[in-house]
Amino acid sequence: MPLVVRPSSIHSVGVFTTTPIRKDERIIEYAGPRMTREEADRRYDGAPRTYLYGLEDGKTIIDGEGLGAYLNHSCDPNCEIDEVGKRAWIFALRDIAAGEELVWDYNLYDDESPAPCRCGSPKCRGTLYSREWMAKMRRKTARKKIKAT
Ligand SMILES: C[S@@+](CC[C@H](N)C(=O)[O-])C[C@H]1O[C@@H](n2cnc3c(N)ncnc32)[C@H](O)[C@@H]1O
Ligand SMILES: [Zn+2]
Repeated sequence: MPLVVRPSSIHSVGVFTTTPIRKDERIIEYAGPRMTREEADRRYDGAPRTYLYGLEDGKTIIDGEGLGAYLNHSCDPNCEIDEVGKRAWIFALRDIAAGEELVWDYNLYDDESPAPCRCGSPKCRGTLYSREWMAKMRRKTARKKIKAT
């Protein structure tokens, strides 16, 4: 698949396609060494930029290497990440034109450090965290306030 890394209006650099991609096409693997969640926390706690993806088993983290790990986040993505066996792949969510930046929704969770989103989409929710995780954090803050009164 002809993909290039170049400067992105979203963040630093991103991945762009030089040819059209069809909806549902498997684009590239999110590949890299694997580690436990604890090891990833130990290595990257507080890092401003990471390349981590947590597999659905809830235990394994891929420390992304190569093009697949360079996709930026968007709240209105044209790609999604999905697992086939124990491998994570980027798939096209819709037809993508030549020249478009490839973006997926990171739906981050399990952290409380700020992660503001700069995807620029009218649908932007303002954060790289998932809606579910944000709702959980709001409930946690509300409970803390009740306890403090
Ligand atoms: C896997 S890297 C993506 C490639 C990155 N742009 C680069 O130049 O290395 C993930 C990091 O990019 C940044 N990032 C990606 N999408 C973003 C967005 N929509 N808004 C703000 N920062 C973003 C965050 O710092 C995130 O931790
Ligand atoms: Zn956004």
